[in-house]
Amino acid sequence: MVITGIGSDYDRANAVREFDESKIGVKGLVDSGIVNIPNFFIHPPDKRPKASYAVDTHLQVPIIDLEGLNGNRREEIVEEIRKASETWGFFQTVNHGIPIHVLDEMIEGVCSFYELPKEVKMEFYTRDPKRRVKFYANFDLFRSQAANWRDSLTCTLDGLDPEELPPLCRDITIDYTKHVKKLGDTLFGLLSEAIGLDSDYFEIIKCQESMATVSHFYPPCPEPELTLGTSKHSDSAFLNILLQDHIGGLQVLHGQSWVDVTPVLGALVVNIGDLLQLITNDKLKSVKHRVLANHVGTRVSVACFFNGSSEEKAYEPIMELLSDENPPLYKQVIVKDFLAYFYSEGLDGKPALDYYRL
Ligand code: OGA
Ligand code: NI
Repeated sequence: MVITGIGSDYDRANAVREFDESKIGVKGLVDSGIVNIPNFFIHPPDKRPKASYAVDTHLQVPIIDLEGLNGNRREEIVEEIRKASETWGFFQTVNHGIPIHVLDEMIEGVCSFYELPKEVKMEFYTRDPKRRVKFYANFDLFRSQAANWRDSLTCTLDGLDPEELPPLCRDITIDYTKHVKKLGDTLFGLLSEAIGLDSDYFEIIKCQESMATVSHFYPPCPEPELTLGTSKHSDSAFLNILLQDHIGGLQVLHGQSWVDVTPVLGALVVNIGDLLQLITNDKLKSVKHRVLANHVGTRVSVACFFNGSSEEKAYEPIMELLSDENPPLYKQVIVKDFLAYFYSEGLDGKPALDYYRL
């Protein structure tokens, strides 16, 4: 297959469709030896990595050590989490209880899936919403202004039959997500306390339910300055626990600058999603972030989203946090509708929080 992006007769829609139908993903393009990225990956100049905000290399996303959580450090940790979640919307955590070998094996498992021959991987390539395990290049490929230099393998964990998972990453995905679920429960407890609620508040309203993993693969890019690994966006879920390898490229928007989320051995990145910002009435912040493409090497990351109750339960700003001076800022929302809006807009579309703002 040849995808060229030169000439005025370039038919973007056809090129995108041809690429999707090839089911080879972005990695497949790289494996085919391309030296220029197809036009539909080229972002408009004002959206390219060097445009708008500068990168501030002096700032660092807070690193929170969970050692001593159930001893004398609890109050201190809760305070660190409060500060980080109210200002950065992001923090890295160490001594979180998940053994480093589990993190390493998860990254290796994801790599081994992507390294399968393309004919085997194609079996998983689908956009069918009924499939619980899906591999594709860009969930918003047909909606975005410009495509991202990234493939993803997504798993919805509720009701998942392990047999649906690719054999090479089956056992480790089950093991890893069990650990992440437990860490998620702990973090939701700490976040509840951090904003003055009972520690089981978020659990009772089921924020920790409906976990989904998205394992991203960012192949080396021949022209990284023209595209992005992931466009600027905020996450729709309540919370995201992200595992990244040692390559780097994730950046968080902090005030007027992009700040690198520098890989730290054994750490996990935690960030507040839109739904947690909504129910905390803007107390906790869902902050924009992006991933740069690079020409050095493949980057792998695994996002674990806590999407909240999948029932018809309505979420709204928490009563206990409201007052005359702090009236509700958002309408009621049902997770399914919120996610549907987010997915229909895509990463570079209209923010879902704005849509639900009163
Ligand atoms: C995401 C995301 C960052 C990364 O999945 O929403 O922002 O490092 N991922 O892959
Ligand atoms: Ni994200």
